Amino acid sequence: MHKILIVAGDGIGPEIMDATMRVMEWFRRKRQFDFVVEEGLLGGCAYEKQGRPDPEETIAKALSADAVLLGAVGGPQWDSMPFELKPERGLLRIRKSMEVFANLRPAICFEALANASSLKPEIVSNLDILIVRELMGGVYFGTPKEITPLPGGGKRAVDTQVYTTEEITRVAHVAFRLAGRRNRRLTSVEKSNVMMTGVLWRSVVTELHRAHYQDIALNHMLADSCAMQLVRNPHQFDVILTDNLFGDVLSDEAAQLTGSIGMLPSASLGAEIGGRARGLYEPIHGSAPDIAGKDMANPIASILSFGMALRYSFDRADDADLMNQAVAASLGEGYRTADIMQPKMTQIGTGQMAAVILRSLDRLID
Ligand code: IPM
Ligand code: MG
Repeated sequence: MHKILIVAGDGIGPEIMDATMRVMEWFRRKRQFDFVVEEGLLGGCAYEKQGRPDPEETIAKALSADAVLLGAVGGPQWDSMPFELKPERGLLRIRKSMEVFANLRPAICFEALANASSLKPEIVSNLDILIVRELMGGVYFGTPKEITPLPGGGKRAVDTQVYTTEEITRVAHVAFRLAGRRNRRLTSVEKSNVMMTGVLWRSVVTELHRAHYQDIALNHMLADSCAMQLVRNPHQFDVILTDNLFGDVLSDEAAQLTGSIGMLPSASLGAEIGGRARGLYEPIHGSAPDIAGKDMANPIASILSFGMALRYSFDRADDADLMNQAVAASLGEGYRTADIMQPKMTQIGTGQMAAVILRSLDRLID
């Protein structure tokens, strides 16, 4: 029996998670996927109920679960909170505590949505990129990280970008292995022209390639250039390996190629311990407070994140493929949430999208 922790969070988090749980129930009924669910508070809602965005209890539950599904955290009501109490701290704490250092962010353009991208359909059609973002290091966690007053008035702010050989090596192994299961091309992205972390990054990846992965075509790209190439000719990429901050930025950019950020799932994986890696699954979009509670949010990124859990935490590649096919079929029938709405299509809400996907799943196994 698999133990799954559900962390719905803030904003649209609870709605998309409700939709996802309906899909999970389908896999229980129709595909013998047995699980028990626990729930945990994180982010702004945790602060409201328990005075902290990152309650110990949630972290403990996450560490004992077989997989964690997260909705989203954050909202304008917490914008003026002290940095340490902001909802985002909860997210960073759960990632760090679970030691999920490899964040897989696939950018796949569903055929039915090739027209929904702000780029020309021929640029994005059939797009299938995987961004592997380092998730536990870099400027997100480096210290010092502070704002200090200056004697003559004004202040000084510091963030610290740090990477060690070991941190780069472990995430690079993941990226090389994934490239080996795809089109065998890896682009490693940094700013070695201006950053020491970039210099180390490039040399560690180069050495790993020489020692273990000569069957993979490796190239290096500066992050600014990668940002440009992503919109110029995204088909040149297969797997992109990059650090925490560049990965954050480039994955939002890649999301837009696929039509909407409401479509993109992610999996964050840790080291394998006893044959199993810790897994945290979350859509890459945020809590979208402006549409929260209106049954307007696109649940697909969250549903596909559960699909990634089936693949990476539960060894159910067939079920994960089925999940993707069901989403493709539902879009193919013309159903759209507001964020991906196009002329002549049928606009539906969050709950209806879940229902349409369930119907597609039923048809696929008939
Ligand atoms: C993401 C988000 C988070 C990040 C925020 C909410 C802290 O943008 O998962 O991409 O920067 O990692
Ligand atoms: Mg982001």
